[in-house]
Amino acid sequence: MRSPRFHPRVLGYLGRALSLEYSAVQQYMTQASLTEAWGLTEAAARLRQETVEELRHAERIVQRMLQLGVAPNASQLRPAGVARNLVDLLLQDAELETEIVALYEEAARFCERLGDEEHATFFDELWQEEVAHAQALRDWLATLGVPLAHDEGERVYF
Ligand SMILES: [Fe+2]
Ligand SMILES: [Fe+2]
Repeated sequence: MRSPRFHPRVLGYLGRALSLEYSAVQQYMTQASLTEAWGLTEAAARLRQETVEELRHAERIVQRMLQLGVAPNASQLRPAGVARNLVDLLLQDAELETEIVALYEEAARFCERLGDEEHATFFDELWQEEVAHAQALRDWLATLGVPLAHDEGERVYF
């Protein structure tokens, strides 16, 4: 079913978001297997849980695209980076999460300015969840002795 009106840029944001969410799925899934192989069972379980959360984000975007009458079109899956230890893996995740946070924030603000409340809310909810992911990663890294730069307002910088 096609939604009556939406700005074409909304589709652009959804497409970019889908690419990033699938990339996150691939990255966390790879890292879960890698840490499992390293014997880091707890980290592997946590990364597996992250994989599921990112998969659910991807699913929400797919559903939204279908509601808008367009076929999901993720086109840029990033390779999962390789690393030699958990800290380096988590730093890669921090980078990806920061990028996703920035995308959702931009998308939410754009829809807000446009007066498209439905999509502003859609992107804002995802933004909040990714901010929480980013914060959880920062906390995890801090427990591993890698404190990252602090928050500035609502934004998260690494
Ligand atoms: Fe996500
Ligand atoms: Fe995330």
